[in-house]
Amino acid sequence: MAEIALIEKIGAYEGKTVTVQGWVADKTDKGKLQFLRVRDGTGMIQATLFQKAVPPEAFELAKRIPQETSVIVTGQVRQEPRAPGGYELSVTDLRAVQIPRAEYPITPKEHGIEFLMQHRHLWLRSSRQHAILRIRATIIQAIRHWLDDNGFLLVDTPILTPAAVEGTTTLFETDFYGDPAYLTQSGQLYNEANAMAFGKVYCFGPTFRAEKSKTRRHLSEFWMVEPEWAFGTLDDYMNVAEQMVSSVVQTVLQERAAELKVLERDTTALEKIVPPFPRIAYDEAVEILRAKSDPHFKWGDDFGAPDETTISEQFDRPVFVHHYPTDMKAFYMAPDPERPEVCLSADLLAPEGYGEIIGGGQRSDNLEYLEAQLVKHNLPRAPYEWYLDLRKYGSVPHCGFGLGIERTVAWLCKLDHVRETIAFPRMLEKMAQ
Ligand code: 4AD
Ligand code: MG
Repeated sequence: MAEIALIEKIGAYEGKTVTVQGWVADKTDKGKLQFLRVRDGTGMIQATLFQKAVPPEAFELAKRIPQETSVIVTGQVRQEPRAPGGYELSVTDLRAVQIPRAEYPITPKEHGIEFLMQHRHLWLRSSRQHAILRIRATIIQAIRHWLDDNGFLLVDTPILTPAAVEGTTTLFETDFYGDPAYLTQSGQLYNEANAMAFGKVYCFGPTFRAEKSKTRRHLSEFWMVEPEWAFGTLDDYMNVAEQMVSSVVQTVLQERAAELKVLERDTTALEKIVPPFPRIAYDEAVEILRAKSDPHFKWGDDFGAPDETTISEQFDRPVFVHHYPTDMKAFYMAPDPERPEVCLSADLLAPEGYGEIIGGGQRSDNLEYLEAQLVKHNLPRAPYEWYLDLRKYGSVPHCGFGLGIERTVAWLCKLDHVRETIAFPRMLEKMAQ
């Protein structure tokens, strides 16, 4: 067997004989010529078999094998401008690892979304899903690099937790040796303890919300990156978040141009994503809504998806909306000392109608205020006792934020729905695999 080559790197082997291991995505029968399109996970290459150039069994096999046969193909790499990818393999040998035991359910014709979701485990083999998930991997890598390079220490936070972070209505309850426990909604509270110990930290992991509504933006299980740091303010958070997001977008543009092309993503909109991002107060956002879409929008109401779209349409980059009404936000948000009815929070709304991708702000560092907030939000004190300790022993102003990976992927790939942004999505009442 010749050296095993990845299709992604096949150009480096021009003129050489290599072996490709993969699956038959498609084929064309031209009598004495057989064309197989072989996919190996890194790319696609056309494998050309001349009847005279291969053993008779190999040629007969090529004629016979259906889509998704797993194969080991050996051949010479040749430049071929007409072939997808620019190279082809002049095959000298072909072996089948497994011939499918039944007809492959996903064919090149159009399938409905329900069908595709039920076959998600196979759908992942398609070029569109490839492009999306490779962009996702790059987004995650770019975020990690940015945080690591900017002095944030990765400190993992638990998934099984005794208390809510983001309200009690979306908790997934589970049993922890006879006591109730919850799947984490956010690592933030632990991040705050870690920030007091290490200064600048982040956690990055799956988070869970029993979202009762079916929308294009909500998953029951999603990944969030959450930086948190001591001595940080609301403004510091917005500065860090805009630097991080811009850097991630520019990295995706550089490293995933081919994938963005597969998705037919218009990249000019993404090229504009550079700091500074516009910042408007909640009060101003309400004025925009009253002028553009809803004259009766009530101060104190949360924005729905169409409201977020109206606000973000005013700008060509992501926009921070800050100083939300205190009553609208989670218990831990610091109130504005000058105007306690609003808090030192901000959400980042993505352009092109993608809505909120980041939530964050400055945390209250005041013990008495937080004690009162727990009561006001009907939260039991005992599971938060450790959290209150952070306000007893060297409490400092601090801030942080959480960026949702799936919504970011949906935005950068310009997808209609978050269900394609993760390999195996969990949504309301949906778990096929
Ligand atoms: O605004 P959220 O709820 O903020 C927090 O959880 C904070 N504790 C984070 C922090 O400050 N450390 O969620 C943050 C982000 C949202 O902006 C959104 O991108 C994403 O998480 N998100 C979801 N993504 C998909 N499906 C859901 N159900 C989501 N809920 C939140
Ligand atoms: Mg939020």
